Amino acid sequence: MDARPVLFFDSGIGGLSVVKEARVLLSGRPYVYVADDAAFPYGAWQEAALLERLVGLFATLIARYRPAMSVIACNTASTLAIARLREAFPGETFVGTVPAIKPAAERTRSGLVSVLATPGTVRRQYTRDLIAAHGARCHVRLVGSENLAPLAEQYMRAGFVDEDAVAAEIAPCFVERDGRRTDIVVLACTHYPFLVNRMRKTAPWPVDWIDTSEAIARRALALAAALPAPGGGGGRDIAHFTSGRPAEGYRRLLAGFGFAAEDEAADGP
Ligand code: DGL
Repeated sequence: MDARPVLFFDSGIGGLSVVKEARVLLSGRPYVYVADDAAFPYGAWQEAALLERLVGLFATLIARYRPAMSVIACNTASTLAIARLREAFPGETFVGTVPAIKPAAERTRSGLVSVLATPGTVRRQYTRDLIAAHGARCHVRLVGSENLAPLAEQYMRAGFVDEDAVAAEIAPCFVERDGRRTDIVVLACTHYPFLVNRMRKTAPWPVDWIDTSEAIARRALALAAALPAPGGGGGRDIAHFTSGRPAEGYRRLLAGFGFAAEDEAADGP
C-alpha cells in the first residue's frame, strides 16, 4: 500500500484547474497543493533565477512530502524547468504542463491560432520548439499577458473581475487576415480556465478555447498505473503556501477544493 501523496505545484491558484479534473480521475491518494505565492507571478521572472528557485524548492518539497508524483500544474514553470527537475531528481515522477500547440494546429480550420500565456512561457525556447515541430502549417500568434494571471487570482479569491481588463488582455489574440479569422485560442496558463467564461463573453468573435487541465489529469492517471496501489494513509489534503500563512481569501478558496492550509491541518485532529 502506498500512502504517498500526489503533489500539485503552481505559482498560485492556477493548479487548481488541474486539481478539479484530477479529483474526478485520480482518487484514493492524498493531495498536497503547493502554491509558490511568495514568488507569484512567475511570468516576469528571469529564467536563470526562476530555474534555481524551482530546483531548490523541489529539493525541500520532495524531502518534506515524499510525493508519489509531482504534477507541475504551471506552464511557466514546466516549459522552463521540467527537464532540469527530471535530471536533478531522477527517482521522482513528474507530470508537466505545456502549451497545447499540437492539438490546436490539428484542429484549426482558418489556420490562425493564438497561444495566450505568461510573458515567460511566450519567451521560452520550449514553446518556440513546439511551434516549429507542430505549427508549421498554420500561423501561430504568441500573446504574452502580464495581467491575466493576477486577474484570475483576484477573481477566484474575491469573486469579481474587471471585464474590460480581461477584454484588453485577450484582444491581441484575435487576428483577421485575408478574410480568415483566428478560430482557436490555447489557454497556456493554468490560471486562465478560471476566466474562460469572461473571455468568451468579452471576445470579439467566438473561438475554441483549448484548456489542457483534463489532459494533464489523464497523464497523471496513466503514470499512476505504474505506482504501488494507493492506501493506508488516511491523511488530509493539505495546501502549502511558500509565503507562510495564506490570506483569508486563499484559505476559503482552498477549502472549497478540499484542502486545509498546512497550519490548520497541523492544528487539526
Ligand atoms: N499558472 C501559471 C502558468 O500556468 C503561471 C501564472 C504566473 O505565475 O504568472 O503558467
